[in-house]
Amino acid sequence: MHPAHTPVSAYLCDVIAQKSVERILDTARIDEVVSDFVTLRKRGANLLGLCPFHTEKTPSFTVSPAKNLFKCFGCGRGGDPVKFLREHEGFSYPEALKYLAAKYQIEIEETQEQRRDDPEEILKDQLFVVNQYARDYFSRQLFESEDGKALGLSYFKERGFRESILEKFDLGFAPTGGSTLTVHAVHEGFRSEILQQAGLSTSHNRDFFRERVMFTIHGLSGKPVAFAGRILGKTAKGPKYINSPETPIYHKSNVLYGLYFARQAIRKEDNCYMVEGYTDVLSLVQGGIENVVASSGTALTPEQIRLIKRFTPNMTILFDGDAAGLNAAMRGLDLVLEQDMNVKVVVLPDGQDPDSYLSELGPEKFLHFLETERKDFILFKTSQLLQQSKNDPVARTQVIKEVVRSISRVPDPIKRGEYIKVCSQVLQVEESLLIAETNKVVATDIQKDRRDRERLERREEVTHEQGTSGTALPSPTTEKHPPQELDLVRILLTGADKMIQVGEEELTVASYILKELEEEVVQEFKSPLLRTIMLDCLDRLAKGDSLSSQVFLQHPNEDIRDLTIQFLSPDYQYSDNWEERYHIVLHTQRMPEDNFARDAQLALQRYQLHKLDHLCDMNAQRVKEAFEANDEEQYLHYLKFQQELQTLRNNVANQDLNTVVLK
Ligand code: UTP
Ligand code: MN
Repeated sequence: MHPAHTPVSAYLCDVIAQKSVERILDTARIDEVVSDFVTLRKRGANLLGLCPFHTEKTPSFTVSPAKNLFKCFGCGRGGDPVKFLREHEGFSYPEALKYLAAKYQIEIEETQEQRRDDPEEILKDQLFVVNQYARDYFSRQLFESEDGKALGLSYFKERGFRESILEKFDLGFAPTGGSTLTVHAVHEGFRSEILQQAGLSTSHNRDFFRERVMFTIHGLSGKPVAFAGRILGKTAKGPKYINSPETPIYHKSNVLYGLYFARQAIRKEDNCYMVEGYTDVLSLVQGGIENVVASSGTALTPEQIRLIKRFTPNMTILFDGDAAGLNAAMRGLDLVLEQDMNVKVVVLPDGQDPDSYLSELGPEKFLHFLETERKDFILFKTSQLLQQSKNDPVARTQVIKEVVRSISRVPDPIKRGEYIKVCSQVLQVEESLLIAETNKVVATDIQKDRRDRERLERREEVTHEQGTSGTALPSPTTEKHPPQELDLVRILLTGADKMIQVGEEELTVASYILKELEEEVVQEFKSPLLRTIMLDCLDRLAKGDSLSSQVFLQHPNEDIRDLTIQFLSPDYQYSDNWEERYHIVLHTQRMPEDNFARDAQLALQRYQLHKLDHLCDMNAQRVKEAFEANDEEQYLHYLKFQQELQTLRNNVANQDLNTVVLK
């Protein structure tokens, strides 16, 4: 069935009030949410099933009703009910909340204040709404209007596309009239400026797309962000495709056609097929090959590659069977290697594109062709260039340079080594030569990287000394944060509300940690994200607000929500070299959730030790400098300070851990 006419008001989306968010998150049960998509069996306290995110034969997908989290021990994905829906259904955060609200019949309270504050967000919403209107309009035209059926629908059918695929991909027809869409939309209450900004109307209020079959371009959450219109037949004048302009909701460089429909298949197959054209995507999906996206005829961008990388590290690029653009296209692929993607390529026979070749072979043979003909990109490139250079020695040197350039883009040194080995055979040059050449390029890159990083660090230090927060973007992954800081934050995020006894006093983990670390100390946190979290905690504590994992799981800041989920996941990895580094025996590492008191104290202790170590190092440098400068007075001064620091450090290291006990 074609989409029914939907009134404009149904498209309006508002900001969900924090109160509703909390109710939804409190109500949603992970086992109930996951069960809608995955068959789960009981296994002890947990539930077990086959992971929906990767292909597996033995179940490693675990759901913990007690923690209200899921975790796959095969692919590592995990999180709360919202996270599950976002990953599984590709929902945005509000979409996931709305889904849960509907499931649990929770009434959503919406506030519009935030929207009024932010004109950019309002505009984006309006553009989505008008695009949704246009999508439905084009679709109605295709399936219901006389022209649409005679020109558009028959065209698609002639090409072999079934109605189900036309509906799934929201294909449509832009009528011949000249301003039909514009007139109807204005009649529905849309302002002409919005229609113009969306690229649906021209500045003279005529329809931008006229007498074309229409392709809806979907964002990652399935909303229509733009359109492309294909001219009918082959003889008509004008460009074959015209596309919506860039708008606040459509940036050509970070959209891939078809990704919204392909994402689950990409994850399952652990591979993404990349084609050039819209119709290629339709054909493959109709033929049952669903893990396919289109670059829309332009060079791939880093943003697009990162989009794919969210679902798989493997991609297979299908090149049309004309050698012309091949070299240029291959050059662009170094970018993909840089992102640590495994790239394979398939070249189709002369004159074919995926759509035509699939029609010729049928889906089964076509898939077999893809699977047998695909070649590793670097090896393919090497042999391709070699063929072209024939026996010309100058050209051969150039080929070696090109190949080295590609290999040096591969971040994994082991993979790099393998490529060098194979390519040296193909190119018939000494392996050592390729190694030397590759290392040169890699070394230059590393140096450049280091310089960039140092520049960044210096900048952070300056802002840090000024007492303002750093400018670098906070990172949600745990690796990049200083472990001492991360440890403290972990304890807060996972057990802030646990009661502990310190001497005579009974207090929460949060107040214990935050009392010891006052604001000046927190300001010294190196990681901007962790600093933000600590300051936020101090703030809440000062206001008498409660602090608990639940609060952080519902935090408006997505990075904080993600970090909390990571910490709460059953397989969170603790740093394992504390013992060697600080000679502290960690009694608590095994089950930190059962031993917050010790854990909290140890974390504090480690943070203090870390700071003192740093001070010791700095001071030792001063001692050395004074010694070398023969400045006896300074030398003795710093030496004495060094001894004091050492004593302090030892005291901290030997602190009696038994003064804090778990309640
Ligand atoms: P193709 O010319 O290969 O078209 O361009 P196609 O996708 O195979 O379409 P059919 O099968 O002839 O109907 C490949 C892609 O390049 C972009 C489009 O994204 C198209 O799908 N393109 C092409 C444009 O944006 N504008 C054009 O004028 C042509
Ligand atoms: Mn085609």
